[in-house]
Amino acid sequence: MANDAFAVSDARPSAVSNGALADPFSPPADSSLWRKNFLLGAATASYQIEGAVNEDGRLPSIWDTFSAKPGKVLAGDTGAVACDHYHRWEADIELLASLGLEGYRLSIAWPRVMDAAGLPNRKGLDFYKRLLNRLKEKGITTSVTLYHWDLPQHLEDRGGWLNRDTAYRFADYADLMSRELAGTVDAWATLNEPWCSAYLGYGNGHHAPGLADGRFATQAMHHLLLAHGLAIPVLRANDPASQKGIVANIGRGTANSDSAADQRAAHLFEVQHNAWILDPLLKGAYPQDLFELWPGTEPLVLDGDMQTISAPLDFLGINYYFRTNVASDGAHGFRDVPLEGVERTQMGWEVHPDGLRDLLIGFNRTYRNLPPIYITENGMASDDKVIDGHVDDAQRISFLKRHLAAVDQAIKAGVDIRGYFLWSLMDNFEWAFGYERRFGVVHVDYSTQKRTVKRSAELVAKFLKERKAQA
Ligand code: FCB
Repeated sequence: MANDAFAVSDARPSAVSNGALADPFSPPADSSLWRKNFLLGAATASYQIEGAVNEDGRLPSIWDTFSAKPGKVLAGDTGAVACDHYHRWEADIELLASLGLEGYRLSIAWPRVMDAAGLPNRKGLDFYKRLLNRLKEKGITTSVTLYHWDLPQHLEDRGGWLNRDTAYRFADYADLMSRELAGTVDAWATLNEPWCSAYLGYGNGHHAPGLADGRFATQAMHHLLLAHGLAIPVLRANDPASQKGIVANIGRGTANSDSAADQRAAHLFEVQHNAWILDPLLKGAYPQDLFELWPGTEPLVLDGDMQTISAPLDFLGINYYFRTNVASDGAHGFRDVPLEGVERTQMGWEVHPDGLRDLLIGFNRTYRNLPPIYITENGMASDDKVIDGHVDDAQRISFLKRHLAAVDQAIKAGVDIRGYFLWSLMDNFEWAFGYERRFGVVHVDYSTQKRTVKRSAELVAKFLKERKAQA
C-alpha cells in the first residue's frame, strides 16, 4: 500500500483509551487490516441465538430433539430461549451497527421457513426479510449461511444426511431462500462446517443427531457436499449479483515428534479435518489417505456427483479455532497428545494463531483454484463476568489481535483474504456446552437478556472508527 495511507500511523498503535491505558488491540500501522476494503464483521447462527422455537410455525430441528435428551448438553441447556434474538433482533442490529461492524454473518433456520411439504412459511420468511432489510438500511454487508446445523427433524426422521434425498431437499430450500431474499444478501454460504455436521453429528455423536459410526460420517459428508453442489447453480440463477461459497472449519495438526510415524499422524489429522472437505470441493475427489485412516468407509458416490460438488466458488469461508498435537496411535491413525504449559481458552482449546497462518498459506499452495477467502469465524470462549457494568476480556483482546496478525501475515504471503468475522457477536448457546461457554464480544445475561458490550468489542469499534476516519 502507498506509504501516505499511513501518514498518521504514529497516532494509531499508541492510541490511548480513557486517557490511561494503551490500546491492546489496534493492529500495527503496516497491517492489511487498515485497508478499508478488508471487511470486519461478526457472526452468529440461528439456533444459537434466536430462541422462539415454537413460534410462528417453526418446526422442530434436530437440535431441539438432541438438546432435550438428558446428558447430551451441559447442564441440560437447550436453544428454546437462547438470546431471544427472534424478539430482540432490532436492538441487536442497533448494537451491531453502533459498534461500527461492517459485516454480519447470520444463518437461516430451515425449519422456520419451510414446512414438511416444502411449502414456504411466510411468517418465518418475513422475520429474515425484516432482518436483512434492516441490515441493508444500516449499510451492513450481509453474509447468510443456509445450513448452520439446524436440520428439520422431519428430514432426520427420514434418514437426515444419510439419505441422499436430503441433498435435493436442501437444493429446494436454497431455491426458495434465494428467490425470496435476492437483493438483500451479499454472500450466500451453503453449509457451515460440514466436518462438524458429518463427524460430530454422525461419526462420534457429540452433536445432533447423535449417531456414531464412521461409515455414517463419510456418507453424511458426501450428501452434505452434494447438497452444497446442487445448491450453488440454484443460487447463481436466482441471485446472480451475490457471492456464493461454503464455510469449512479447518484444523491444524502438529506432530509430537520428528519420527516418520508421528509426522504421518499429523498429516492424517489434517487429511480428515481439511482435505476431506476441501479436496472434493476444489479437486473433485476425496483424498485416498482418508480411507487408509478410516478403512472401509468409502461413501456411495454416483456418477456426476464429484463434478456437482466441485462447481466453482466465489469465496471460501474459513473457521479456525485451535491446533491439535498428535502422535501415531501405533496402527494406521493418530491420537491426541495435549501439550503442557500452553495457553488455552475456556474450551480447553490451545491458542495457536500460527496454525491459521500456516494452513492458509498451505492451502494457497495446494489448491491452485483456491477462491478468495473470508475468515468466517474466529474467536474464543472465556468465563466473562460483568463487574460494575464492564467486562474486561483481556485474553480475548489479545487472542483477536494475534489471530488478525496471523491473517495479515498470510495476506502478505500472497493469500487473497478479504475479510474476518468475529465469533461471536454475543454470548450464545454453544451446542453441547450450552450457555456456560461465552464466545461473544457482547455479554448476555441469560436471566434478564441484558447485553453488555465487552472491552474487546469497544476496542474493535474504536479501531473501525479510526480506520473509517482515515483519509
Ligand atoms: C464453530 C461453530 C459455531 C460456534 C463455534 C465456537 O464450530 O460453527 O457455531 O459454535 O464453533
